[in-house]
Amino acid sequence: MNADTAYHGKKGEHFAVASADHVYNAHTDRPAMLRLAGDVTGLSVLDLGCGAGHYAVELAERGAGRIVGVDGSESMLGIARERLGDRAELHLHDLEEPLDFLPDASFDLALMALVYHHVDAREQLLAGIRRALRPGGALLVSTTHPTADWQYFEGSYHAHDRVEFPIGDGHTITYWRMSLEQFIGELLGAGFVLEELAEPRSTEAGRQVDARRYEKTHNRPTFLAVRLRRP
Ligand SMILES: C[S@@+](CC[C@H](N)C(=O)[O-])C[C@H]1O[C@@H](n2cnc3c(N)ncnc32)[C@H](O)[C@@H]1O
Repeated sequence: MNADTAYHGKKGEHFAVASADHVYNAHTDRPAMLRLAGDVTGLSVLDLGCGAGHYAVELAERGAGRIVGVDGSESMLGIARERLGDRAELHLHDLEEPLDFLPDASFDLALMALVYHHVDAREQLLAGIRRALRPGGALLVSTTHPTADWQYFEGSYHAHDRVEFPIGDGHTITYWRMSLEQFIGELLGAGFVLEELAEPRSTEAGRQVDARRYEKTHNRPTFLAVRLRRP
C-alpha cells in the first residue's frame, strides 16, 4: 500500500497560500525551473503535481499552448481551477497509478516541481512521462537537495527512506530522501538524458519577502532542479 501523499483538504489550502510568495517556492524553485523551461511559447506542457497552479499560471502567461495539470488533491485542484479557468485542463489523479489517460508523444515539456520525491512508484511514473513526451521533449524535475535532507534528518547520507517534514500550521508531509546518485540514477535509468543541473538560490525579490531565508538559500543547499531530454 503506497502512502497517500497528496496535500488533501486544509493541508493543500495551507500550502497553496504559503507557497504563493514564499522564498523557497516563489523565489527559489519556480524561477529556477522556469529558467530551465526556456521559451514555452506554443508548447504543450504537462504539469505533474500541479498543486494550486502556481506554475500553470506562469506558463499560461508565458504563452504555453496547451497546459495539462495533474494532482491528487481535490482542494489544490479547486484552487487551481479558480485561478486558471479554461487556460488549463486539470485532472484529479494519484501519481502512484499509471498515466494511461495521457496519449503517447503528446507533450513537448513535462514538469514535476517538488513532487517526484513524494512518490513510491517512481519507475512507473517516469515510464509514463517518457511515453507521453514526444521524442526530443524535455522533462524538468525539482526536489529537496540531498545534502539539505542529510543535514536536517542526519543519519547516513546514503539513506533511502521515507521522512516526515513539517510545513507549518501543524501540517506535515512525507517524502523519500535520497542521495544525488539515487536521484540522478533513477532519471537516467528511465532513459532520459541529463541536460542541466541547478542548485537554485533565491532571486533578489525573495530578499524583500524574507531576508533570513533568502540568505539561507545563498549559503546552504536547498533544492535541486534538473532538465532532461527524452531521446
Ligand atoms: C510541494 S507541492 C508542489 C506543488 C506545485 N508543483 C508547486 O510547486 O507549486 C506537492 C504537490 O504534489 C501533490 N502530490 C503529492 N503526492 C501526490 C500523488 N501521489 N499523486 C498526485 N499528486 C501528489 C500534492 O497534492 C501537492 O500539490
